[in-house]
Amino acid sequence: MEIGVIGAGTMGSGIAQVAAQSGHKVWLFDTNEAALEKATKALAKIMARLVEKGRLSEADAQGIKERINCVSDYQSFQNCGFVIEAIVENLDVKRSVFSSLEDHVSDTCILASNTSSLSIASIAASCQRPERVVGVHFFNPAPLMPLVEIVPAVQTASDILDQTKNLIDGWKKVTVVTKDTPGFIVNRVARPFYGEAIRIYEEGIADMATIDWAMKEIGGFRMGPFELMDYIGNDINYTVTETVWTAFYYDPRYKPSFTQKRMMEAGYLGRKSGRGYYDYKEGAVAPEPEKNQVVGEAIVWRILILLMNEAADALHLNIASAQDIDLAMTKGVNYPKGLLQWADEEGIQKVLDGLDKLYLAYHEERYRASVLLRQKAAFGQKFLG
Ligand SMILES: NC(=O)c1ccc[n+]([C@@H]2O[C@H](COP(=O)([O-])OP(=O)(O)OC[C@H]3O[C@@H](n4cnc5c(N)ncnc54)[C@H](O)[C@@H]3O)[C@@H](O)[C@H]2O)c1
Repeated sequence: MEIGVIGAGTMGSGIAQVAAQSGHKVWLFDTNEAALEKATKALAKIMARLVEKGRLSEADAQGIKERINCVSDYQSFQNCGFVIEAIVENLDVKRSVFSSLEDHVSDTCILASNTSSLSIASIAASCQRPERVVGVHFFNPAPLMPLVEIVPAVQTASDILDQTKNLIDGWKKVTVVTKDTPGFIVNRVARPFYGEAIRIYEEGIADMATIDWAMKEIGGFRMGPFELMDYIGNDINYTVTETVWTAFYYDPRYKPSFTQKRMMEAGYLGRKSGRGYYDYKEGAVAPEPEKNQVVGEAIVWRILILLMNEAADALHLNIASAQDIDLAMTKGVNYPKGLLQWADEEGIQKVLDGLDKLYLAYHEERYRASVLLRQKAAFGQKFLG
């Protein structure tokens, strides 16, 4: 099957590589010639590195490069069975791309969007045949991150969903199916990892280095929240938080923080700007954490129970199955354990008590426990069998 990719930026070029590695002929389109050139050069570099490391033969690398064809119009998409869009995150632009795309593809072609935060229903509604539109959300970097969230819109036909899932499974990705709601699974459930860490810092309970140390050493997370925000970029991370919060009709649970907003406004974007929560300039000395086990455990528990609460609430609202929610967090953001399984192991009553204690102390909606946690605790049930 031939694959079309629209947008040759960070995500589009990665997705093109993934498809070509699975043997597809790929048509990579971008309105910006420079983006196509950059993507071609970057791919050549990646291929050379993989050959050097012995992970790919010279012939395979050559084949992958040859299968990706850069194009500057939609004409080449006529034989594609699947076209995925990965352009700028703007609903109006995406809708206009989808509506004109339909004139250039066959009747059986599936149209997918890699959007992180926009409504698939709204993108699909711009098409004559909205039933063939689906969300296919890769994670960055697409060739390395195993997770792909598949998002059927209300209009998506069930066979389109099945075909899409089969195709992406065939690309050796871990797929989960999620409802078309803000943040899908990962960008919704992960909010407290950042938000509650910032809140703990704002309250002066611990500094950033200590919170990062606790989450890694005690919590078992691969990166601490502040390190990770610096890695993602405070502009991107803040915008995702703000988008999710707005899209949930300003549910206070997702409220962004002034701390991160100010970081963004100051241009302290993280690694990419040389300074974020930490200083990345040459010779900068990293702050030392205060390795207090009791404080560390309290920090981890507070962030963890908020994450578990989000996972429980996503399950309660049928955003995805319990298995898919756990898979999404382990394969999309490398959590050491699925949150629902983790809650089962810790004890749901204990998680609920922790949240109720916070709610009682703060009287803030961000600590309101999901009714599913309360039900599971009341009946002594677990999330996973
Ligand atoms: N970067 C991430 O971490 C990430 C992760 C998952 C999903 N996404 C989503 O993927 C999409 C792309 O993000 P990105 O980070 O790759 O962006 P990017 O800025 O790196 O690349 C976007 C590319 O789209 C091109 N483009 C813009 N308008 C176009 C049009 N009308 N037609 C064709 N090409 C056009 C641009 O020239 C650019 O090369 C967004 O919807 C984003 O939300 C991003």
